[in-house]
Amino acid sequence: MNNPWHATILTLFPEIFPGPLGVSVTGKALQNKLWSLDSINMRDHAIDQHGTVDDSPFGGGAGMVIRPDVIEKSLAGIQQNDRPRIYLSPRGRPFTQNDAKKLAKSSGCIILCGRYEGVDQRVIDHYAFEEVSIGDYILTGGELAAYVMLDAITRLLPGVVGKAASLEEESFENNLLEYPQYTRPQCWKDLKVPDILVSGHHKNIANWRQEQAEQITKARRPDLWKLYEDECNKDYY
Ligand code: ADE
Repeated sequence: MNNPWHATILTLFPEIFPGPLGVSVTGKALQNKLWSLDSINMRDHAIDQHGTVDDSPFGGGAGMVIRPDVIEKSLAGIQQNDRPRIYLSPRGRPFTQNDAKKLAKSSGCIILCGRYEGVDQRVIDHYAFEEVSIGDYILTGGELAAYVMLDAITRLLPGVVGKAASLEEESFENNLLEYPQYTRPQCWKDLKVPDILVSGHHKNIANWRQEQAEQITKARRPDLWKLYEDECNKDYY
């Protein structure tokens, strides 16, 4: 069998991995070696016996910056060095479902988790780390963002999620959010499931779901709606 998809995480808190990735479908897949993970403790590559990994920023200002030589030494032992390198930071390009798909098709990735005020810019430039953000808010470090990113990627790996069809109909496919779902009981607190869903008429159900997906996307995410419309117009002309 080929080597499984592999994530290497550079962090000051290696003990928190796999964390939530070790349960449910991602955890089962980890156990079954459909993917693998190792975390490198950057503290093991500190510059002194006090465990120093950071220093104050040149030019002044609050906080500390992780030193480039510490990151260089942390990277040195990585075997498969050709995998995409990602630095998690609120300054990065927004992470999307398309990124998850692309990364799931690669052999894995190397993820650098920052803390404090971040990492020395030279290390990002020299090793061509791509800066990626999981949203417009500031976390205390990249570790939680790494959980999010790895969850989104590993669930797309072959065999991780049971039914491949359930991946095809979920939110962001074709730039639409997903239609609403209902299950038993058919009547709950006087609230009925839409009649069409119990009609057994597959074509009408598919049309209803498409309409719902369009309405929800239009109302909640005008940015996605525009992409969807542009894509439809491209097909038409
Ligand atoms: N580190 C701190 N905040 C972050 C964010 N929003 N996305 C990715 N990494 C981060």
